[in-house]
Amino acid sequence: MNLILLGPPGAGKGTQAKMLEDKFGIAQISTGDMLRAEVKSGSEIGLRAKGIMERGELVPDEVITAMLKARVARPDCAKGFILDGFPRTAPQAASLDSMLKESGLKLDHVIELKVDDAALVGRISGRFSCAKCGVGYHDSFKQPAKAGVCDSCGGTEFSRRADDKAETVAARLEAYHRQTAPLLPYYAGQGKLKAVDGMASMAEVARQIGEILSGKA
Ligand code: AP5
Ligand code: MG
Repeated sequence: MNLILLGPPGAGKGTQAKMLEDKFGIAQISTGDMLRAEVKSGSEIGLRAKGIMERGELVPDEVITAMLKARVARPDCAKGFILDGFPRTAPQAASLDSMLKESGLKLDHVIELKVDDAALVGRISGRFSCAKCGVGYHDSFKQPAKAGVCDSCGGTEFSRRADDKAETVAARLEAYHRQTAPLLPYYAGQGKLKAVDGMASMAEVARQIGEILSGKA
């Protein structure tokens, strides 16, 4: 099963992708996480991407598509993958189409997480994650069961993303509406687009996605 989760910054793509990965054993491919790993390692791609990401702009298509192509070829994608944060532009969507065709793969669903812009800022500004294993939390919506201790790995260090400042979030939202939202009619035209209410609780969003995957919605 190959899926795209499409939605603005903070819509819950990463949260839902992780849940789907655990449930179905298909790989989450987050181009944002991959880029943050490149930045952290100080690689050539990381050095190129750092400033762009901190300004809330999009990293050039050719960098992203090369990264994606290599990632999809890895063995953990054999059962399928969930694209989280890719494609984000028309050229990326076209590259994905040809990549899938070349590999004899198909896209099963494109799931849009619909969330109001006003709610996104609150979600993003409250977000933090475990510095050791990367599991995500939120100041109001998802605290670790024991304060200061990661539920998943027991780590006690947490971090916040460099691009989660209010002014950068505004630029990321603008990039979404201008460059990524036009992909919605593109996938609707392919008959692949389904929307879920991303304003609902995490469990309810997961339930709605489950209905789509099981063919009930
Ligand atoms: P990326 O890492 O993809 O960030 P994003 O799209 O801005 O999305 P986020 O990761 O911020 O949000 P999310 O939808 O994953 O939400 P989450 O589940 O964390 O990209 C970062 C940057 O990298 C880009 O700006 C760009 O520069 C570059 N980049 C990446 N991909 C690229 C590409 N393809 N092309 C070019 N450049 C690229 O949830 C957010 C918070 O809300 C969490 O705290 C969570 O706990 C909470 N939450 C989740 N669901 C709910 C719910 N239902 N109710 C309440 N709270 C919820
Ligand atoms: Mg994410």
